Amino acid sequence: MTPSPAPPVPLPDLVPSLRADLAAAGFTVDGIAEALGPMANDALGREQMLPADLATRDAGTPLATLVRLFTLGRPVPAEAVSAALPTLGLEGLERLGLVTVGEGRVRATCDLHPHADERHSWWVASDLSEMATGAALAPDHVLGIGGASTTLAAWTPRPQVDRALDMGTGCGVQALHLSGHAGSTVATDLSRRALDFAAFNAAVNGLELDLRCGSLFEPVAGQRFQLIVSNPPFVITPRVSDVPLFEYRDGGLAGDALVEAVVRTIGEHLEPGGIGQFLGNWEVAEGADWRDRVRGWLEGTGLDAWVIQRDVQDPAQYAELWARDGGNVPGTPEHDAMYAAWLADFASRGVGSVGFGVVTVQRPATARDTWVELVEESGPVSSPMGPAILAGVRARTWLAEHGDAGVLATAWRCAEDVTEERHSRPGAEDPSVIVIRQGSGLRRGVRVDTVMAAFVSVCDGDLTAGQALEAIAALLEQDAGEVRAAALPVVRGLVADGFLIPA
Ligand SMILES: C[S@@+](CC[C@H](N)C(=O)[O-])C[C@H]1O[C@@H](n2cnc3c(N)ncnc32)[C@H](O)[C@@H]1O
Repeated sequence: MTPSPAPPVPLPDLVPSLRADLAAAGFTVDGIAEALGPMANDALGREQMLPADLATRDAGTPLATLVRLFTLGRPVPAEAVSAALPTLGLEGLERLGLVTVGEGRVRATCDLHPHADERHSWWVASDLSEMATGAALAPDHVLGIGGASTTLAAWTPRPQVDRALDMGTGCGVQALHLSGHAGSTVATDLSRRALDFAAFNAAVNGLELDLRCGSLFEPVAGQRFQLIVSNPPFVITPRVSDVPLFEYRDGGLAGDALVEAVVRTIGEHLEPGGIGQFLGNWEVAEGADWRDRVRGWLEGTGLDAWVIQRDVQDPAQYAELWARDGGNVPGTPEHDAMYAAWLADFASRGVGSVGFGVVTVQRPATARDTWVELVEESGPVSSPMGPAILAGVRARTWLAEHGDAGVLATAWRCAEDVTEERHSRPGAEDPSVIVIRQGSGLRRGVRVDTVMAAFVSVCDGDLTAGQALEAIAALLEQDAGEVRAAALPVVRGLVADGFLIPA
């Protein structure tokens, strides 16, 4: 296998010119979407380059040149590149290590992409994708922004913090997001190449990152943060000679041991009240419940935890996804050897399925019992989800600190996004099913009885929960104590999930 190209170099005298030229060309998420049109842009999202190739082939604009060079990995005439980057020039681009030039053609050594959230936009360099090179990814590949990166970024709670950590930073995408709401950001990776890309990306975006090389939390031994994010190398990979170590997605341990290590040790690096947010895969033994496995990892950590399983795959589905990811073509002997190795690896541990989920942990700021919630939610959710995660952590913490007495003494208000559905048999007077549903966050629907439906309908911030339940019990001629006891766990759940908020 040919060695991977050297990462770009953030030469301080040239980076401002690059930034100015990219901005002037309109090399932004919206600019590219507009230039390509929805069909070609969506096709790129599915890793299909042909429509974007056709849309940019004869356009002749600086933006089209940059897309062809850095997204599609096409050789581009030297004059077109010089015209697209008039301040930096072709020589400057070469000195930054972003391209090589030969026979009047310019080739990108890496991918360069605009990336944005609701309030910021960045440029992010990474290794060229498999789509651009047509070759399988090298084991030391530095990933660009993929589905897992955007999932984690979307689910990350973003309070303003003094110090944040991105563990396994890769090209630095999570660290760029953190820079928007953290006083300082430490970003670590086992891969030197990855850290070089992250350093380049920090410089291009005018940001400072404290970059450290090492495994897991080793580079931050003895240090604590208010927010830790990680899209760790969680892919479960057989440790056999047929399957290489894919450093960019697999931490080199057997099974799900790397995710277990993150769960067990992240708390040592969280300040009181600090939050950790990361993605993971977990193995589930035939006939077992995934919750027991993840709960076991959390035991003794002293952390609050909210684990949301989003997807489950059987061993074959998992093997198909990861044996093919990175460019191994199904049907080839190499691919089939990998597929078989995955199946044998799972069978050796009696694994019946693999869960994928998002983990939120918090080190409690006060002396109290921890809360731990493990749920399955596979449906569509708000994007970004981070605000709902932060609100959910705060609500669960409030519940743990105030108990049932606090819930009853509080006047609650029904959140603006909550609606009620009533379903009845044709001709029936009363509904047989009442569901209250939220329009944002996890977009949960909760089936409630008539008492709870009445309770939610009077939650306008006037009466405390205790007063409202007493009034409803009197109206329905039921025992107030029994009504309260039955309602409290449901009210707590509605508060935790943001259906009810303090008035
Ligand atoms: C899935 S990528 C995530 C990259 C980036 N943070 C993102 O969200 O797209 C995982 C990263 O973890 C790094 N890595 C692999 N093993 C590691 C380890 N033992 N400790 C820390 N980082 C590791 C890889 O080099 C890679 O950059």
